Amino acid sequence: MDPLAVVVTGLWAMLPAYVPNNAAVLAGGGAPIDGGRSLDGRRLLGDGKTWRGTVGGILAGALLSSGLNAIRPTLEPILDITLPAFPLGPTLALPVGAMVGDIIASFGKRRLDKERGAAVPVIDQLDFVMGALALVFVVDPGWTAGVFSLPVLGVVVLMTPILHLSTNWAAYVVGLKNEPW
Ligand code: CTP
Ligand code: MG
Repeated sequence: MDPLAVVVTGLWAMLPAYVPNNAAVLAGGGAPIDGGRSLDGRRLLGDGKTWRGTVGGILAGALLSSGLNAIRPTLEPILDITLPAFPLGPTLALPVGAMVGDIIASFGKRRLDKERGAAVPVIDQLDFVMGALALVFVVDPGWTAGVFSLPVLGVVVLMTPILHLSTNWAAYVVGLKNEPW
């Protein structure tokens, strides 16, 4: 696969895992998942993980997969790149895994005494990628192994932090997010 195809494939395949985070910022608010409960004096997850944000994020990611499936036949000849289609399993596993990875990271951050919104570099940028890749691998190992070759995985791990930091910074600048990370 040529380098451009590797980059495009990595971004394409991860889009349904990227968008849930940004959609959660827009959809968030209302009841926190942990119901305000604490463990050893620290919140279980915190007010930054809400039902609305999680469900909104998952819906946005799944809808995006369907949209990508729809535009794929038009885009492939234009780019001259073979793009992966999203079967039902990955359509759900990518956004659910992304949200669950982010929630697990929040649980860990609270145990380490990091308040909601505290920056934890690397973890903040890759928690949702790890969650998405792990779940999609469990749900559809054949699809995952076929799409995420080593070069594609490398692109995802390198480019995700850059994309994540720049979209979060943009969300902060327009007043949607409280912190720029
Ligand atoms: N959000 C949400 N539900 C989620 C994930 C995110 O409602 N499952 C919303 C919250 O409003 C959250 C914002 O999106 O504040 C930004 O998400 P994130 O950076 O993941 O949360 P933080 O506020 O930084 O909280 P934490 O320290 O727990 O990561
Ligand atoms: Mg955060």
